[in-house]
Amino acid sequence: MATVPRVDSEVNVPVEVPSSKQAVRVGVIGYGYWGPNIVRNFNGLEQSRVVSVCDKSTKALRRANQAHPHIRVTSDAQELLRATDVDAVAVVTPVWSHYELAKAALENGKHVFVEKPFTCKREQAEELIELAERKHLKIMVDHTFLFTGAVRRIRQLVDDGTLGDLYYYDSMRVNLGLFQHDVNVIWDLAPHDLSIMDYLIKEKPQAVVATGERHLNGVADIAFITLYYPNNMIGHINVNWLSPVKVRTTLIGGEKKMLLWNDLEADEKIKVYDKGVEISGGQAVYDTLVSYRTGDMWAPKVEQVEALRLEAGYFVDCIQKDETPFNDGLAGLRVVQILEAADQSIRGKGAVVQL
Ligand SMILES: NC(=O)c1ccc[n+]([C@@H]2O[C@H](COP(=O)([O-])OP(=O)(O)OC[C@H]3O[C@@H](n4cnc5c(N)ncnc54)[C@H](O)[C@@H]3O)[C@@H](O)[C@H]2O)c1
Repeated sequence: MATVPRVDSEVNVPVEVPSSKQAVRVGVIGYGYWGPNIVRNFNGLEQSRVVSVCDKSTKALRRANQAHPHIRVTSDAQELLRATDVDAVAVVTPVWSHYELAKAALENGKHVFVEKPFTCKREQAEELIELAERKHLKIMVDHTFLFTGAVRRIRQLVDDGTLGDLYYYDSMRVNLGLFQHDVNVIWDLAPHDLSIMDYLIKEKPQAVVATGERHLNGVADIAFITLYYPNNMIGHINVNWLSPVKVRTTLIGGEKKMLLWNDLEADEKIKVYDKGVEISGGQAVYDTLVSYRTGDMWAPKVEQVEALRLEAGYFVDCIQKDETPFNDGLAGLRVVQILEAADQSIRGKGAVVQL
């Protein structure tokens, strides 16, 4: 049990009293672009602290040391993975290395917080899930968007029936760069939408069709993914590293209302439109009456919190309460399965791949 120092007034010496819960001690592997955010957030929580940071690059370690002089740094992942004062490991390295590092962490008895996408292959994800179960350890996949105020608000609007039955989810996630070398644009950007869709839409997709093309460094830099769901629900994701402008816009159409989410808007990220189409009339085409409903638009309040802070807190909570996170290894696996299917479909120039 963790202890906190207190001064006993009677004898005037520091004595140790037990705190309610032991702080989770985190080791972070990878201090490139995203790693510093992970370190800052786990370090900023009351119930966790970062005790060690590992990166192969000495430049990265220097940056870590400057920002957090009290945190131990190492270039040897094994040292961090074997450290007895590390309870959980955050894997914030390129995708190809997630499996090896996460596996080693689990084998050393550490809980794992791993970046999206979970692994490069479905079999790797399955193996990690099985290993974590066997060792009674947690896996959380960093599907950061699920912790944003916008996505949590949209989930409420879906769950409380405001939008009605969903017709479609259509997302545009494009910008210039950042070109990745180990993954194509689908594996880089689509995990965001795939995890959001997994969270918002109760049904799971049945088939994937994807097209895409490579222009510069041998991996697809633009892609269009279509997901077929039961009950005519359809999903579409447009990802592109070659766009002159940054766009983060999602349309979600429902039977009752339609929603526009522009993540680049500072305020009013979400707009709900009371618009729709109703079809009535007889069976024959010429009997059909189409009526359009155009009502009010409203912008629901969206909570402004740092998503990663909430997510880090949730990970720590799941460890301390021994609960399974909703963004667990299985959620990561569902995303990886669709990414693999999309790659397969692209190779077949838009072939239908059943899930
Ligand atoms: N959740 C999000 O919104 C989000 C955002 C950005 C990146 N990411 C994910 O974070 C991961 C890292 O992305 P990034 O943009 O920070 O990459 P990056 O290349 O900027 O940083 C990766 C760092 O890992 C280090 N590294 C690589 N292999 C290592 C090893 N075996 N041992 C120790 N250090 C090692 C590298 O030296 C580098 O400093 C990726 O999986 C990416 O998909 C997630």
